[in-house]
Amino acid sequence: MRHIIHAKDISREDMEMLFKSADALEGSREPILEGKILASLFFEPSTRTRFSFESAMYRLGGNVITAENAKEFSSTSKGETIEDTIKVIGAYADVVVMRHFQEGAAAAAAKVSTVPVINAGDGIGQHPTQTLLDLYLIQREFGKIDGISIVIIGDLKNGRTIKSLLWGLSKFKDIKITLVSPKALRLTRECLAELQDVGITVTETEDLESVIGDADIVYQTRIQKERFPTIEEYEKYKGCYLIDVPLAKKMKPKALLLHPLPRVDEIAPEVDDLPQAAYFKQAKYGVLMRKAVLKWILVD
Ligand code: NCD
Repeated sequence: MRHIIHAKDISREDMEMLFKSADALEGSREPILEGKILASLFFEPSTRTRFSFESAMYRLGGNVITAENAKEFSSTSKGETIEDTIKVIGAYADVVVMRHFQEGAAAAAAKVSTVPVINAGDGIGQHPTQTLLDLYLIQREFGKIDGISIVIIGDLKNGRTIKSLLWGLSKFKDIKITLVSPKALRLTRECLAELQDVGITVTETEDLESVIGDADIVYQTRIQKERFPTIEEYEKYKGCYLIDVPLAKKMKPKALLLHPLPRVDEIAPEVDDLPQAAYFKQAKYGVLMRKAVLKWILVD
């Protein structure tokens, strides 16, 4: 049984297999998942992740049962543990896609689950399938992952997409990584040390303008409002790295601007029309990658 909990557990070979599989599944409605049931259990809001998993499942002939607001509408609101919930869902579904507000929740669920668990985001921890689709987009649209120079911006302390992405990038060679954030929102020193242990080195700066022109990939993220202790604290950082048209035009002509979305105020809407803007395509590729992931877990 294959769970997907942390990006570090997905090998480069598996990633490359998934990229090929996503290519092959483009446009496919072949019912390879007929008779299978996916349970989506979301304790935090989601648009892209849940819908793209559910869309992928339907497009391949499978079925979906869903708790889109599991915090309120699953029995955990009555005090049931996540372990008990997951044990029961295993009897109702063939795979569980779970998003939870606590780091480590997906790993805890996987320990007791009788069916594969896919982590769709665990608090400030990981979001491995986002990483798979991010890397798929880079491979497909930029042409390669080895040797790229990437600038990653935003709330690196609380953002799970970027932590997952850094682990995903650790599987590739000669990646130049520049992290841009306010000091208070830097990647934790603990995370940095763990990544250094697997050979990832990064440069850190607070100055986006000085580095945006050197990057092949610019990965913008949202300041994670829901993780701040007070609204005042959040407002100190809100809007701190707006990419507007003049700044985006400093990017290399062939560079790509990514964002896992939702965006709030980090990228001006006018930037959407520039050739570098790739974030809506990135969201669209989410369905392809999730088709590939579900096939891998349920069929291969
Ligand atoms: C992200 C998430 O939930 O971590 N969204 C997503 O899955 N595409 C990013 C975010 O919420 O900022």
